[in-house]
Amino acid sequence: EKVVLAYSGGLDTSCILKWLLEKGYEVICFMADVGQDEDFQAARDKALKIGASEVVVKDVKAHFVEHFVWPAIRMGVIYEKRYLLGTSLARPCITLALMETVKEFNCQFISHGATGKGNDQIRFELSAYALNPEIKVLAPWRIPEFCERFEGRNDLLEYAKNNNIPVAATTKAPWSMDANIMHISYESGILEDPSQPGPEDLFQMTKSPQNAPNNQYVQPLHILQFLNQIGGEHGIGRIDIVENRFVGLKSRGIYETPGCKILYEAHQDLEVYCLDREILRVKSLLSERMAEYVYNGFWFSPEAEYVKKCLDESQKSVNGRVTVELFKGNVLVVARESLSSLYNQELVSMNAHGQLNYTAATGFIEINSIRLKEHYRAHGVTANN
Ligand code: ARG
Ligand code: SIN
Repeated sequence: EKVVLAYSGGLDTSCILKWLLEKGYEVICFMADVGQDEDFQAARDKALKIGASEVVVKDVKAHFVEHFVWPAIRMGVIYEKRYLLGTSLARPCITLALMETVKEFNCQFISHGATGKGNDQIRFELSAYALNPEIKVLAPWRIPEFCERFEGRNDLLEYAKNNNIPVAATTKAPWSMDANIMHISYESGILEDPSQPGPEDLFQMTKSPQNAPNNQYVQPLHILQFLNQIGGEHGIGRIDIVENRFVGLKSRGIYETPGCKILYEAHQDLEVYCLDREILRVKSLLSERMAEYVYNGFWFSPEAEYVKKCLDESQKSVNGRVTVELFKGNVLVVARESLSSLYNQELVSMNAHGQLNYTAATGFIEINSIRLKEHYRAHGVTANN
């Protein structure tokens, strides 16, 4: 029987590959290029050496940016007010390409190296079932036989040694990393103690200020690459948080999302400029919902499809140009222009009465004060001072 394994080239999935072969499966290794810094040729050679019958590498960077990252910026999704969902968005995108490979090779199974404690297992598997309800999943980190054999990293290293699986000579960073064109996330290992800050040499996308070029880009992928570079140089988009995993665990993570942090801030500003106030309020509620769907692995779901349409609808009038300054880790919006803005300088100006009836606010205040006066009558002066 044939399995498509989501292969990373690392120790875990290399051991999983070997183990699946031992169990009698034919294994096709699948790798998605989502913009991580990876030597795909070396990973391909390694997988073939271990015994994979095929290695499929798909470049999904442009697709990821256009169909996941850009919509995420439009929808304004952010998890627990800070996490821009770089990993959460990549999982369904990777699964989409993986499921194409399942079809191309007529496979019955998929497999992955995500642990039984995390979000990623849920995202991979829910996406897979949404795209192909017949698919069967082998998640070794939830299979008792596998877990009893491999208690931790040392068992994996020993297994690798006994089975001629090459292990990277460089000492492994003392944390787990997930990288793509949108972000890098760091979790576990020495980061599990939230009272200790992440070491400075952890960060790979962001550094301290330098001069940056001033170019024009059209393709979403190139725009994001440029913003990552310039944002990275100014230390933009680092966060250190404790977050709530879908499975109920709290987990500490460090992220760097330079380019998308700039886009997020600029877009938020443009929205306030362009959108009707009440639409903005409803959009913010829906964004928060959508962020949960994305985080929890429900990108491919009726609810996400529905809410995405609604959020996209709000974007018809959100167009324009935002000027930002990047300064020591901060994105400062300093100006915005739009042809579809609701801003009316004449109406709001303090220098002229314009079209607004200047006596109208008297009644507005009077009506709003009714409740406050009634509260005073019943309870006296409010204690909220
Ligand atoms: N906590 C983040 C999320 O759930 C990042 C997960 C990182 N995954 C990883 N395999 N290191 O989206
Ligand atoms: C994992 O558990 O495999 C990584 C972390 C996560 O999925 O939340």
